[in-house]
Amino acid sequence: MNTELEQTLVLIKPDALKNSLTGYVLSLLSEFHTGLRFAAAKVVHVSRMLAEEHYAEHQDKIFYPSLIDFITGLLHYPEQPWKRRVIALVYQGPDAVENMRDICGPTNPHIARETRPGCIRSLGTVVPLKDAEGNDVGERMDNLIHASAANSDAEREIRLWFKPDDFPPSMRVYPTEISDSHYYFKDNRLYLQHEPGSICLLAPGDIVWKSDIESLRLLQSGQTAPCSLESVAAKYLINHELEKHGGVAP
Ligand code: RTP
Ligand code: MG
Repeated sequence: MNTELEQTLVLIKPDALKNSLTGYVLSLLSEFHTGLRFAAAKVVHVSRMLAEEHYAEHQDKIFYPSLIDFITGLLHYPEQPWKRRVIALVYQGPDAVENMRDICGPTNPHIARETRPGCIRSLGTVVPLKDAEGNDVGERMDNLIHASAANSDAEREIRLWFKPDDFPPSMRVYPTEISDSHYYFKDNRLYLQHEPGSICLLAPGDIVWKSDIESLRLLQSGQTAPCSLESVAAKYLINHELEKHGGVAP
């Protein structure tokens, strides 16, 4: 791929929003500092489904339940669900993935402070995790920002969080297709016809990632697909009035 077109996913996490660090982080990520430009941006109320898809690689880790509660905003806004959100951004430009990881710094904020003072994650915190008896069982890193770790992760994550029409046409770097069918979602199932209470994921004429529509076609005919139904549906359910429509925990 042309390295000018390389993209990476950035999430400004709930701890950054809670601490009013959003503007500071965005200014550090400006084209002047990074040589990267915005390709897409949105404010996202993160559903449990989206969080679980995003962090699927960590599902067996001790910190996983806490990580999901963190990224969904539950931990920083326990009493104010309307404030639970992250800022999701796609940056584009030369060596976007490596460049962005570098400016974020090490995952662990303690290590970030020791080894890269001034990097974004040096402003984060490490929270001890306890079991029911109060024993230390691990740590959670509240590290303010996510940036894709490799090009393959960036592709998976960008397609998980963004639709093709979230990008200006010249900034869409993954193959797209036009949907020729309706696809509806309800209670973790896919339907081709409207069901009462279902959500329309796609209609004929909608532009969609090729990988998504290929997976939906396979799933609809009962076959296994490279992308799970949840990983496709989670994106279309972003900022939907989830509670009213069932099928997804808020
Ligand atoms: P991220 O995905 O959020 O950008 O962070 P990362 O690549 O630097 O780190 P990763 O290994 O993907 O971990 C994802 C998030 O899980 C929490 N974590 N805790 N206690 C631990 O050892 C530990 N390791 C990871 C952090 O919140 C990290 O950002
Ligand atoms: Mg990671």
